[in-house]
Amino acid sequence: MADQALAQAGALKLPAGQSSGPRYTLRYKLAWRWRACRSWAHYVLVGRRKGLPALLDFVLGNHYLKACQVPGELAALGEILAEHRPGRALEIGTAGGGTLLFLARLASPHATIVSVDLRGGMFGGGYSAWRRWLYQRFACRGQRMCLLQGDSHSAEMLERVKAALADQPLDYLFIDGDHRYDGVKRDFEMYGPLVRKGGLIAFHDIVEGPSDAVGGVPRFWREVKPQYHHREIINDPLQGGFGIGLLCVE
Ligand SMILES: C[S@@+](CC[C@H](N)C(=O)[O-])C[C@H]1O[C@@H](n2cnc3c(N)ncnc32)[C@H](O)[C@@H]1O
Repeated sequence: MADQALAQAGALKLPAGQSSGPRYTLRYKLAWRWRACRSWAHYVLVGRRKGLPALLDFVLGNHYLKACQVPGELAALGEILAEHRPGRALEIGTAGGGTLLFLARLASPHATIVSVDLRGGMFGGGYSAWRRWLYQRFACRGQRMCLLQGDSHSAEMLERVKAALADQPLDYLFIDGDHRYDGVKRDFEMYGPLVRKGGLIAFHDIVEGPSDAVGGVPRFWREVKPQYHHREIINDPLQGGFGIGLLCVE
């Protein structure tokens, strides 16, 4: 589904005059995978040593693993993460894997990183077995990557997350899953208590924008932010969607 969305966005266009038959679809998929592997290898061999700027270039420019983020906002979040180096982090909303790779590279070299997504669903959701294989490789030696597929709102998922963390508290929680008001609220209420004092909770899409993109996140953010020390990372208040809200847990 994510691949389909990327294709629709024009990331890989069909050559003029060519129809999208089953054979082309196979070629198309193989071409995607080949490009993804090639650019991944390039990042691992060359970009990895160049720090945050190369990481940003990669996750924002690679169409296969693209993070759905505003460059300046992701850069600011990256600087904060590079300072905090979370040792236990949870992302809700894996999608194309861009923010997961970003998190893995900026977390502690011994971090446990957990990422939750549906098996296929809303907001461009879910990912294929092939992507799962690739995402597992985002972890550096010494890190542990736990990819959990299922509904973040289920009691079972909460237990799976706690088990993945060996019942240790989180340093960082990134909420970018179900964007409906009740959805983001529930993610916050279920997983927020797992974050230690001094830890960070980030929300994506806090800026008002098209309702099918931001859902009820801006409204929930307005309600929750006065209760915490918080920071807003917003490139342009009129950009329509995006924006990152950060809460510091006291
Ligand atoms: C906006 S995308 C995440 C984008 C990604 N973090 C990035 O910036 O590239 C939202 C993701 O949340 C997932 N999602 C929506 N509701 C969910 C739920 N209840 N449990 C788990 N994942 C959910 C969707 O499947 C989708 O992949």
